Amino acid sequence: MNSNYTQIDHILKKFNHDEKSLIHILQHIQDEVEGQYISEEIADYVAHKLGINKNRIYEVLTFFAALNETKKGKYLIQLCDSSVCRIKDSNSIQNALENILNIKIGETTEDNMFTLEYTACFGACDISPAIRINKKVYGNLTKDKVNKIINNLKGESYE
Ligand code: FES
Repeated sequence: MNSNYTQIDHILKKFNHDEKSLIHILQHIQDEVEGQYISEEIADYVAHKLGINKNRIYEVLTFFAALNETKKGKYLIQLCDSSVCRIKDSNSIQNALENILNIKIGETTEDNMFTLEYTACFGACDISPAIRINKKVYGNLTKDKVNKIINNLKGESYE
């Protein structure tokens, strides 16, 4: 059994193997596993451990946008799509990100390094337009700032 399953067992125990906590269980698992997604293998395992049908897991995965069925890049870039950021021209930040990463919103780079997706307001409106990368917030963004951030991350990855 790999470390993912040890972590999953720990999370299931924390929620008393209670199906009523399925959303929270899946969110916690997703936060812990590489690629930040619920793979078919994990869905099987959780269904087995909770004694429920796997379809129930997929119902929850389909319904909650915050849960992922597909693997994310090493860096998950979340662009705020809420009103304050939009007013502050988050659109130009989206263009800058799409250009430098050579992907569209909702996609992952071929090397699996970056995933770009929308997210709702995460409370950084005072420094909008803002993004989150693996939960770290970057604000007061400009095109130049975005390019610098991404180039730094690329540099880190290829060291
Ligand atoms: S509207 Fe973008 S962080 Fe609040």
